[in-house]
Amino acid sequence: MSETENLCDVIIFGGHGDLAFRKLMPALYHLVEDGYLNHQSRILTVTRREMSNEEHIELVKSKLLEFMKEGEFDEARFAEFAKQLQVVRVDLTDEESYRSLKEALDLYPERERVNYLSTSPDFFGSICKALNHWELITPQSRVVLEKPIGRDLKSSRAINVEVLKYFEESQVYRIDHYLGKDTVQNIMALRFSNRFFMPLWDANNIDHVQITVAESVGVEGRWGYYDDYGAMRDMIQNHLMQLLCLVAMEPPCSLDADSVRDEKVKVLRSLRPMSPSDIETKTVRAQYTQGSSDGEAVPGYREGIGVENSDTETFAAIRVDIDNWRWNGVPFYIRSGKRLRRRNSEIVIQFKSIPHSIFANKGRCISQNALVITLQPKESIKLKLMNKIPGLTEQMRLQQVDLELNAPLNAKRKPEAYERLMLDVIRSNPTLFMRLDEVEAAWKWADIILEGWAENIVPMKSYNAGSDGPSAAIALIERDGRSWHDEF
Ligand code: BG6
Repeated sequence: MSETENLCDVIIFGGHGDLAFRKLMPALYHLVEDGYLNHQSRILTVTRREMSNEEHIELVKSKLLEFMKEGEFDEARFAEFAKQLQVVRVDLTDEESYRSLKEALDLYPERERVNYLSTSPDFFGSICKALNHWELITPQSRVVLEKPIGRDLKSSRAINVEVLKYFEESQVYRIDHYLGKDTVQNIMALRFSNRFFMPLWDANNIDHVQITVAESVGVEGRWGYYDDYGAMRDMIQNHLMQLLCLVAMEPPCSLDADSVRDEKVKVLRSLRPMSPSDIETKTVRAQYTQGSSDGEAVPGYREGIGVENSDTETFAAIRVDIDNWRWNGVPFYIRSGKRLRRRNSEIVIQFKSIPHSIFANKGRCISQNALVITLQPKESIKLKLMNKIPGLTEQMRLQQVDLELNAPLNAKRKPEAYERLMLDVIRSNPTLFMRLDEVEAAWKWADIILEGWAENIVPMKSYNAGSDGPSAAIALIERDGRSWHDEF
């Protein structure tokens, strides 16, 4: 890296928030440590709190120690990193108070600027307006928007319209941190760099696809936000939809941002809109009640947040149909929830049965092949194949075995999603960020379900914390003669 490469000012709005401390600061620390962010770059934390730079540095240090993995924090490196940190006091509701930010940024007017809006989306418009008012938006500026962008298509549009008054679409980076995960990017590598998947990846060969993102944690102090959003808006509309797109999209003509995003948006536009009766039979929403997590008793969602009549779903399962040639008749079953038995995110590509079996196999049927991509917590890719059980039995006996693909063990630390994404913004590479039309297409599909749920077309189910989710989710897939690949 040359001295001027990746030299920029990173400005974090909502800089003393949970995300900033938990994810953004550790990501920036590692980028500096690994030489990806120039050590002359500044990291400006925008906060309403009155504090000196020394106090801010102490606070960042304590948070890095809290949130970074054991052994990652190094006192001497932090001392260097701390030189790049600066706190700027701004009251986001008072345009006048941005003067302090102007003074700080004007020291380097030509420098590239990454404005990271890690605030409630309610502030996105006013922050951009204030930046414009103080002439802080230059052609070298980018703005990063954290999800969720709105609660539905209408509010999402309103936010985007505001932001796009001041920034060009090419300057806007809408984050979905799942796209920054190495394992998620590997889906593209797997699909588009291995010839043998090419002829198999369609309705002729695939029976169905399952996408699960299960969490064992609850809402973790974020209930003020979560209770207004729920699993559909928090996870399904964005993270699970993006995973679905990566599995379902056509091969892009290149890896450039628009080629990839063009293909993803085509998938989102092909999602079959749900009729009221579809909502009834193809969607499940549920909320957890008391139970246990990691051997400890935990309260139900409502007691936990102290809102007796909350109608927010903490779990959702949906059968998604994609109306295009490749996926005709191939359902995608997706589910996500909090306070489930264990953390597990995986994608299962379930292939069709063989057309005819020549093996008696002692009454046992031949299991269908499956490709199982586990994203977290343990990463793995397994191809489930049938194999002969060794032995001299008269009839050949078979069993299913896993062909496991182990990523070559690299001594180096695996980068976190936010490192990848932050670096891409710094490098002006928007491939892993959502374009406006993608966000809108995903909302369009999700809105119909959310409206149906608001009308109570499908009742809210419950499940015990620490369980495998509501039985209705099992019924959802079993109704089609299929079953979830695994319990959580
Ligand atoms: C966030 C959601 O986007 O993703 C959280 O707001 C969720 O509710 C989190 O817990 C899950 O991310 P990860 O990377 O831990 O799977």
